[in-house]
Amino acid sequence: MPKYNIFVTRRIPVAGLTLLKKQGYKVKVSPHDRVLTKSELLKEMKGIDALLCLLTDKIDGEIMDAGSPRLKIIANFAVGFDNIDLKAAADRKLFISNTPGPEITESVAEFTVTLMMALARRVGEAERFIRAHKYRGWEPMLLIGQDLYGKTVGIVGLGRIGSGVARRLKNFGMKFIYNSQHRNLDFEKEFNARHLSLEALLKQADFVTLHVPLTRETHYLINRKNIKLMKKTAYLINTARGPVVEEKAVLQALSTKQIAGAALDVYECEPAIDCDLKDHMELRKLDNIIMTPHIASATIATRSEMSVTAARNIIAALQGKTPPNAVKSE
Ligand code: DGY
Repeated sequence: MPKYNIFVTRRIPVAGLTLLKKQGYKVKVSPHDRVLTKSELLKEMKGIDALLCLLTDKIDGEIMDAGSPRLKIIANFAVGFDNIDLKAAADRKLFISNTPGPEITESVAEFTVTLMMALARRVGEAERFIRAHKYRGWEPMLLIGQDLYGKTVGIVGLGRIGSGVARRLKNFGMKFIYNSQHRNLDFEKEFNARHLSLEALLKQADFVTLHVPLTRETHYLINRKNIKLMKKTAYLINTARGPVVEEKAVLQALSTKQIAGAALDVYECEPAIDCDLKDHMELRKLDNIIMTPHIASATIATRSEMSVTAARNIIAALQGKTPPNAVKSE
């Protein structure tokens, strides 16, 4: 059997690594527990047959060429693959794969609902209130929030995660509207949901939750112009990708109370929380926002599943097959 070399850009759960080693592959995991610099990554590409990388690794044609002629596959440890130049990969006939799966769908959907509930009931503010020694006893008007019950949720992007969010919220007595490239009649029937244009959804939803991949079309999907359509009492939740939302627009809408609140797990200029601090407008200074550090899929089961899925994609490619989760350039 040919000897294959795999490079993994950062420590990940062992399940996937074990699977690769069982195939007799030589697996090297980066010794640095951080994002590699481009020159570090370029060096590691030499002589490898497969790269297992993360959404924090920017993979362009130059990185791909550094792995030539052996490199067969770049297996991303994420569902999203906006960090990889798909066109460059297609030109070089390289496989690109991602890690969708039942666990990640449920984890992200669950976390989205967690954020919605925390936002509506002001859990972040309440927690900060206690920690600041401000609690003096029960008050009828203290930290009054909103119920999810009876409210309308607007789901933007009705893939696996968007529908997972709806499945959970059905029991909360919420109403459903959605915006998606294609209508889903089964979903409409089951959830009594209406398919709307993005503009109509933004006008009607009490909670707007984003579940689209980052592409040219979805970049700044929520922007200065259309955020104004949202109700003053509405909330925005983003567990998709930062640049799907124009950060300045949210900042503006939250500071002027044009919308009630936002929960962000992802950021336009990640890992920076604020793209531009020059004007002293900072998301973290606002009270009506909940911010988490891109952890929607961060559960033991999901991260382990992701490592196995990435490994299976590599194994398939090295056996000359199409990886089960191969992604294609547009
Ligand atoms: C993904 O999979 O794309 C998430 O953002 C990270 O788990």
